[in-house]
This record gives sequence, structure tokens and C-alpha cells, in this order.
Amino acid sequence: MSYETLIVETPADAAGVTLIRLNRPDALNALNSRLLEELSQALDAAEADDAVRCLVLTGSERAFAAGADIKEMSDKTYAEMFAADFFTKGARRIEQFRKPIIAAVAGYALGGGCELAMLCDFIIAADTAKFGQPEINLGVMPGIGGTQRLTRFVGKSKAMEMILTGRMMDAAEAERAGLVSRVVAADKLIEEALAAARKIAGQSPLAVMMNKELVEAAYETTLSTGVAMERRLFHSLFAFEDQKEGMAAFVEKRKPHFKGR
Ligand code: HXC
Repeated sequence: MSYETLIVETPADAAGVTLIRLNRPDALNALNSRLLEELSQALDAAEADDAVRCLVLTGSERAFAAGADIKEMSDKTYAEMFAADFFTKGARRIEQFRKPIIAAVAGYALGGGCELAMLCDFIIAADTAKFGQPEINLGVMPGIGGTQRLTRFVGKSKAMEMILTGRMMDAAEAERAGLVSRVVAADKLIEEALAAARKIAGQSPLAVMMNKELVEAAYETTLSTGVAMERRLFHSLFAFEDQKEGMAAFVEKRKPHFKGR
């Protein structure tokens, strides 16, 4: 499938991995409705394809995404925003995506761009990355979960300061604050993200999906409910051939070959 606002690749040296690049270079990858629609389609295709085990979502060297498309939004009325449920569909599609998605962020990840990165399962940042929620400068607010997710990632004080002043955070600060899993040299970003994705793609896809669900549940449930869910799913893994294969491979000192059943 070809897209107007995305480049979707299957890197030759990363079996099971799909790389999605946001591709609106003239607008610093600003998220318009076309891009979000195409991203939903690309996720549908990746979910339906058993060969796809992990995604990497990236932008350009200059920008992961500089936010929602201000030019598209500026004249919208309340009725139009409400009726179209502006941006919600794309965000929900990512929230409901069951396979892992790694955000590989270089340059600006602002507004909806920062929110898109936070919707992914983890963020690897280039040392050039800049994160921010500058919507206050436009007289609005984050609309794809930023007030909630940034606060959970970095805590109230830093989130409040960033959201109320519009200040950006550089990659080092984002790592210290726990927004990103790690920072790498900009020219190694894709290589590092693909290496992590390749590692995930080689695991049991069933165990990967269950682990992802449980880490997500840590944000939604109490500790005791989350731990109870973990115990149930941990036990259930013993119904899969992949558990037998993983443990047999350890005992036999060989690499496991997971089949997803
Ligand atoms: C539309 C955008 C854009 C955006 C950049 N561009 N960001 N177009 N929407 N969010 C366009 C510019 O208009 C310009 O095109 C081109 O990209 C290059 O941008 P410049 O501003 O010339 O580049 P630079 O001087 O390097 O500054 C980069 C920047 C700045 C600091 C990232 O572009 C910027 O502040 N962008 C807006 C960031 C922002 O406020 N994001 C939050 C959006 S609201 P032209 O053709 O004009 O030269 C949001 C709400 C989410 O995200 C909730 C939705 C429901």
C-alpha cells in the first residue's frame, strides 16, 4: 500500500519489523487528518500481518512531528471539532494496537507530536530531540492525552511547568525525567531503534502482547489488581508452546525458536 504522508518500509536486516516514517517534510510532519487516517490504515495492515512483530515509528532528522496541523485546525468551529472527533480516532487506534510500537524521536516532538510519541510503548530519543506541549502559546491545550500522559511520565511539577509555559525539554532532560527510555547519537537513532525492535520481534509474540498489556495496566489499575492480572496471565503462558520452547532452549543451551502458539 502506498501513502501520501507516510513511508512504510520493511528493513531488510530486521525480520518481523516494520518502520513507519511520518513524511510531511514541508510541515515538519505536522499531523493532519490525512496523516492520522493513513497511520490508522498502516496500523490495521500491520496488525493483520502475522509476519509483523514490532513497529518503529519515526519522523525526520529535523522533526518527529511539530504538532497537530495548525493550518488545518485554525478555522474549525466547535461543532466541526466535536462532530469529527478531531484526532481521537487516530489516537484510539494506537491505544488499541496490540503489537509493540517504538517511537524513534529526532528533532521536534511538540504538541500532538509529543503526544503521539507518548502513545507509543517506549521512546528512544536522538540527542537532538526536543519535547514540548506548546499549545498554551496558541491559546489551547494538549488534545491527544498530553495533560494526562506527560504528567504520568514526568510528574506534576515538570508537566505543569511545561504545559503552562510551553517550554521545551531537551533529550538529556527527557531521559532524566523518565520520558524516554534512552538517548542515542542522532546518526544511530534508526539503527538503535531497529535493533531493539528486532530483539522484540524475535520473542514469543504472545508473551510480548501480554507483557505490553500488563505494563499498560499499571497506569490504569491499582497495584493489587495489576499484580493479580499479572499472576493470571503468567500462569496462562504455560498453555503456549512458546513457553515450552523458551525454557527447553535455555536448558539445551540453544536459541529459542518461537512460533506464536
Ligand atoms: C502546521 C507547521 C507546524 C504545525 C511547523 N509547521 N509546525 N504547520 N502545523 N504544527 C510548518 C511551518 O508553518 C513552516 O511552513 C514549516 O513547517 C517549517 O516551520 P518553521 O516554523 O519555519 O521552522 P522553525 O523556524 O525551524 O521552527 C520550528 C518550530 C515551529 C519551533 C517547530 O515550526 C513551531 O513552533 N511550530 C509549531 C509548534 C506547535 O505549536 N505545535 C503544537 C500544535 S497544536 P511554511 O510553509 O509556513 O514555511 C497541537 C494540538 C494537539 O499539537 C491536539 C489536537 C487535538
